[in-house]
Amino acid sequence: MREISLKVKVPSSRNAYYPIVFGNNHWKQTLASFVENHTFSKVIFLVDEQVFSFWKEEIEQFPHPEICILPSGETSKNLEKAMEIIGFLTRQGCDRKSLLVTLGGGVVGDLGGFVASLYMRGIAFVQIPTTVLSLVDSSIGGKTGVDTSYGKNLVGSFHFPSLVIADVMFLQSLPETQKKNGYVEMVKHALIADEGYYRQLMVPFTEKEWPSLLWKSCQIKARIVEKDPREHHLRQILNFGHTLGHAIEHAAGYEILHGFAVAWGMIGEAFLSVKQGILRQDILHTLIQDFKKNSLLFSPQTILKLSWEDVRYPLLHDKKNIRNHIHVVLLEKIGQVKHTSCQYSYPLPEELFQEAFVFLKNIAEEWDESH
Ligand SMILES: NC(=O)c1ccc[n+]([C@@H]2O[C@H](COP(=O)([O-])OP(=O)(O)OC[C@H]3O[C@@H](n4cnc5c(N)ncnc54)[C@H](O)[C@@H]3O)[C@@H](O)[C@H]2O)c1
Ligand SMILES: [Zn+2]
Repeated sequence: MREISLKVKVPSSRNAYYPIVFGNNHWKQTLASFVENHTFSKVIFLVDEQVFSFWKEEIEQFPHPEICILPSGETSKNLEKAMEIIGFLTRQGCDRKSLLVTLGGGVVGDLGGFVASLYMRGIAFVQIPTTVLSLVDSSIGGKTGVDTSYGKNLVGSFHFPSLVIADVMFLQSLPETQKKNGYVEMVKHALIADEGYYRQLMVPFTEKEWPSLLWKSCQIKARIVEKDPREHHLRQILNFGHTLGHAIEHAAGYEILHGFAVAWGMIGEAFLSVKQGILRQDILHTLIQDFKKNSLLFSPQTILKLSWEDVRYPLLHDKKNIRNHIHVVLLEKIGQVKHTSCQYSYPLPEELFQEAFVFLKNIAEEWDESH
């Protein structure tokens, strides 16, 4: 039989741009005016138990909220829960014109966004991030997904929200460790993109200064994602600290929070940058001192418990590997990563990662003994 072919034009994304509206105690007004300007058949909220327990009265002030409540934490980010939410939407009579509002941290945002991308082949969703991490990171960029027994975030889609409402009011109830966890991603933004911002983050700042710092991070991430929404090139720089960081997080059985694993990962990857002759040794030392001073090298005991073999396995199976080579983003100086034309991450031999891990273990040992 002769081969035949047909060209089908792919429609461009409906949501080429979407706004992030940032402020304090504005979410109800912002969401209400967004809903008023559209013709949604229903508005459904997806919230986790902990956020709901803190903000029940606030959420219930929104006119006729229909609320789907999930157990809190990463264990909810799976296909079974996605199916349960789909069941909830169906029972509520949601159709293609319904709106899903995810109000919570990265788990609720990733899971809700994933469901919104699937339900009736895609419905609109609005993200209201309530953790520092979700505000500066996971709510920006359209990555949605769930964890499976084969890997974290292994199944997912790009589905951009119609609107992100960043309301710092929700951070009032966020525990300090969770704040610090997200703060690490802010430090990452500074290290890859803005030296002045790094300096701002490293000196003690007051509660009042938080919003402007959070907003700075949102802008950095948004600018990067805008230039490379599907992570073909530039967006890879957001993975700085994440090659070793993910491996440590995985090896530790996720008993260390993501941000803290990434903090260790950033020091490890800065070490690799020095080894490659890209970063000055004294800058690496400054980073270590700064991270210690700001309590970012958290839980050295976790690092000390791990063996190289524990870390090696997840490194060799990293989603970012290309043709079995472990890739890493390298730092040139504070505020700038190495890139050559469109290349932003580089393959390095396994032995170097082992050296970096030994380097981290030495820091952990010294740090542990001095406390
Ligand atoms: N999509 C992306 O681009 C992207 C980027 C980074 C991380 N992520 C994902 O984000 C998830 C982590 O996000 P997270 O750290 O926000 O975790 P999370 O959603 O589990 O929230 C952390 C904890 O804080 C609680 N919480 C949330 N907001 C609160 C508030 N205002 N007050 C009190 N408690 C509150 C939650 O109930 C939970 O127990 C991971 O699944 C990760 O894979 C996604
Ligand atoms: Zn991260």
